[in-house]
Amino acid sequence: MCGIGRTLSDVVARKVGRTGAGPVSERRMTFRELQFLWYSDLYRYTGRTSLHLLFSQLLFCDGNVHTNDGFKYSFYLRLCKYLRTAQPRFVMYPLYVVAVRMLCRYRYKFGISLSHATSVGSGLYIGHTTGIVVNDFAVIGKNCNLSQGVTIGQTNRGKRRGTPSLGDNVYIGPGAKIIGGIRVGNNVAIGANCVVLEDVPDNAVVVGVPGRIVSYNGSQDYVNKTDYDKAAKLRG
Ligand SMILES: CC(C)(COP(=O)(O)OP(=O)(O)OC[C@H]1O[C@@H](n2cnc3c(N)ncnc32)[C@H](O)[C@@H]1OP(=O)(O)O)[C@@H](O)C(=O)NCCC(=O)NCCS
Repeated sequence: MCGIGRTLSDVVARKVGRTGAGPVSERRMTFRELQFLWYSDLYRYTGRTSLHLLFSQLLFCDGNVHTNDGFKYSFYLRLCKYLRTAQPRFVMYPLYVVAVRMLCRYRYKFGISLSHATSVGSGLYIGHTTGIVVNDFAVIGKNCNLSQGVTIGQTNRGKRRGTPSLGDNVYIGPGAKIIGGIRVGNNVAIGANCVVLEDVPDNAVVVGVPGRIVSYNGSQDYVNKTDYDKAAKLRG
């Protein structure tokens, strides 16, 4: 989960033909992209972006109600992803090893198993930590809300063998499970404790076990503070 043995798992993934581009095809991330991801995540929590805010979120997380464990985890998640391919290798690789150690530490501390090998779009929001498990090969789109007890995992056989692929602006309620090689569309809201086993179209609201669509009201009002692109342009 922490990047060890990745080459082998990439080979295996290609052979079994899993869904999700996750760790299989990795492009080098620029520092600007890293900055954008950090700020997009920060904006989802606070509605603001600044270096001062970023450091205060990182430094005063423990036991402080005004700060967010989820952001702290995201910070190292993004950093590991950047350092993994950053150049020059002889400088960046030792930093990568330290960052991975930090991510592993927070993985146990906050109970989040979301690897930096997983493909995660900008604006990730982890409302509450603990019990979050995401398969390395899952794909998460932009502005996803993860809640406590969420599992995004694989199924190992049958017609939906594989891992889920999530669109943009997806809200996943507490305890929800999304499993198998399915596609969840954009602006989807998944209810608390729902078990999603089939493809979900855009704007659907899914509840229950197994998940059924109850409306097409989408994830509006559940997924907020997503206009960080505009905010970044305003700041220049
Ligand atoms: C799925 C969800 C996003 C839908 O919200 P919504 O679009 O406003 O829909 P409604 O609440 O009007 O519910 C629509 C129907 O689904 C049912 N429903 C809603 N959530 C459900 C759930 N988690 N499980 C089973 N049924 C559910 C409602 O009873 C309602 O049924 P009815 O039409 O027969 O009365 C919302 O219900 C939900 O689960 N939110 C999670 C909230 C939460 O856990 N917050 C804590 C965060 S820490």
